[in-house]
This record gives sequence, C-alpha cells and structure tokens, in this order.
Amino acid sequence: MSTVPLESFLAELDRLKADAVEALAAAVDADAVERARIEFLGAKSGRLKAIQKLLGGLGGADKPAGGKHFNEAREAVSAALEAAQGRVAGSAAAVEPLDVTLPGQPVRLGHVHPITQTIRRVQEIMARLGFESVDGPEVEDQWHNFDALAINAEHPARDPLDNFYLAVARGADPLLLRSQTSTVQIRVMERREPPLRIVSLGRVYRPDTADATHYPMFHQVEGLYVEPGTTMAHLKSVLRQFASTFLGGDVHVRFRPSFFPFTEPSVEVDMEWGGRWIEMGGAGMVDPAVLEAVVSGFAFGLGVERIAARRYGVTDIRDFYRNDVRFLEQF
Ligand code: PHE
Repeated sequence: MSTVPLESFLAELDRLKADAVEALAAAVDADAVERARIEFLGAKSGRLKAIQKLLGGLGGADKPAGGKHFNEAREAVSAALEAAQGRVAGSAAAVEPLDVTLPGQPVRLGHVHPITQTIRRVQEIMARLGFESVDGPEVEDQWHNFDALAINAEHPARDPLDNFYLAVARGADPLLLRSQTSTVQIRVMERREPPLRIVSLGRVYRPDTADATHYPMFHQVEGLYVEPGTTMAHLKSVLRQFASTFLGGDVHVRFRPSFFPFTEPSVEVDMEWGGRWIEMGGAGMVDPAVLEAVVSGFAFGLGVERIAARRYGVTDIRDFYRNDVRFLEQF
C-alpha cells in the first residue's frame, strides 16, 4: 500500500488554501462567492474533500500532524468564506436604492398596563386635591407594618399565615412583605411635621387564595391628611371628589362603622356609581396614639384593583395579571 509523503500532502494543502483565499477575495458578488464555496468547501467534490481523502494515505506517524494542518486549512478557508459573504452582503445593501415611495413599516406601539394607568391617574387627581405622591419600601419591618400602627403583638393581622414573613438570621426581628400601605403614614410622619397631604400607591402582599376579587399581591392607595381642624367631613369630601373625577359622574360615598387599630373612629368606605355599591377600602381619623401630636388627621386605604375593575368593568382581577395581550389591549 502506497503511503502519501507528508511534505507533498502539506504542499497540496497550502496550495489549496492560497487558491481559496485568492478566489474568495476576488469574488465580486454573492454568486461568485457561492461558486468559490462549492469549489473549495463543497461537500461532494470540493477540493478540501479531495485532500481529506489523502489523509488516510499518510504514514501512521504523520497522521496527527497531517490532521492538524488539515483542520487549520479548513478553518482558514471557512473564515475567508465568511468574510467574503459578509462583504458582498454589505455591498448589496449599500447599493440597493432607497425607494421613498414605499409605504412605511408600521411600528407596533405597546402601552401602559391598566393598573399602572390607574395609579398614574389617581396620583394626578390627588395632586389636584393637594396630595403629594410618596413611596415606601415593599419589604418592611414589623415596627412600620404593625407596632407603629398600634397593631399589637397579639393582633391576628400579624399571624404568620396571613403575612409573607421573610427568613432572617436567628434572633433578628423578621422582615415581611408589607401587608398594607399604611406603613407609609408612619414613614412620612417620622420625618415630616404637619400639615401633611400625601398619597402613596404601591404593592401589598397577603397570602390569600387567588379568586375573582383576591390575589396574593395587589395594590393600595394610601392617603394621609394631617391639619388642625380636620374632620370626617373632609375625609368624605376628598373621597367623593376623587371618585367622581376618576369614575366620571356622580359618585356617592357611604361610611360603615368599622375598626382599625390606627384610626378612631374607623369606617369601611363604599362607593356607588351607576347604581351599584362597592366596598373600596377602609378609612378613619388617625388615632392620636399614632399621630403623637395634638393635631387632627384622616387616613384612607383603597384597593387599586377594585377601583380599576369598577372603572373598566373588569369582573375578575386575576385578568390584570394573566398577561393576556387580548385583555390588556383593550385599555
Ligand atoms: N390599611 C388598611 C387595610 O389595609 C386600610 C386603612 C387605611 C384603614 C387607612 C384606615 C386608614 O385594611
């Protein structure tokens, strides 16, 4: 059996590489590049294929070196091919005339999620009533979520089954995902003196089973108004003006006696619009124990999903979170 000398194999390889690089560099268009590709890299009768067959004829000791050089040559030719393909594609694009009479390509515009739209609208309306928008953290300590709001250690609202407590180092006071935006009342009162008119909108978390009116994450609007001489009448009038503007039309506000540890008296807020009463949240006069000052104020907390659902006629709040574009596109 005749063996192929390594030197002639390598010489053959070098010649092929030089020819291929030259042919590809000289190719002026995509057709020429393709012809060169078939000549050198063609799977059936390409020149590289032919040389590959010689590999088997090399002497045993020469095979590793021959294989290595063969692979290098193949890579070099492939790289030259890619460069040539890129070059002719680029020049094709460059010379393609621009037809300014073609219809434009429509740009598909996305838009803001209905909950975010609602949040912005609420902020806008409340700003007109003199309320400044403020933010608070979603991961809270128990002081701001409970203690400072007079929700004492035995209160059922602190139950681990009703809150998302976060794991912390042993001995440390567990943090939690805030269960209400009333935390922001405390955070604002810690650093500011009355008079105050603030509104805070954001996410709150409770481990509720999801259904048409519940979700483990939802949004609240928290309002806080602190000024000498504030009464429940101010509370009712602010809520009514807000709701009439937001829903468009005459909205009636009804208070039902209730209890919150941080307001006294406390009420549930119902709103009637278009003949239907809906419970929108809680409110009350800020308890002097929380306010730590001889000044009066009111606070309210409404569900953003509830007011959005009422406004847009949505019957299942889970639709807000399904990310179904057919639903979201309607807003
Ligand atoms: N934070 C209360 C809740 O989540 C609502 C509320 C806010 C009540 C402000 C009174 C005043 O249920």
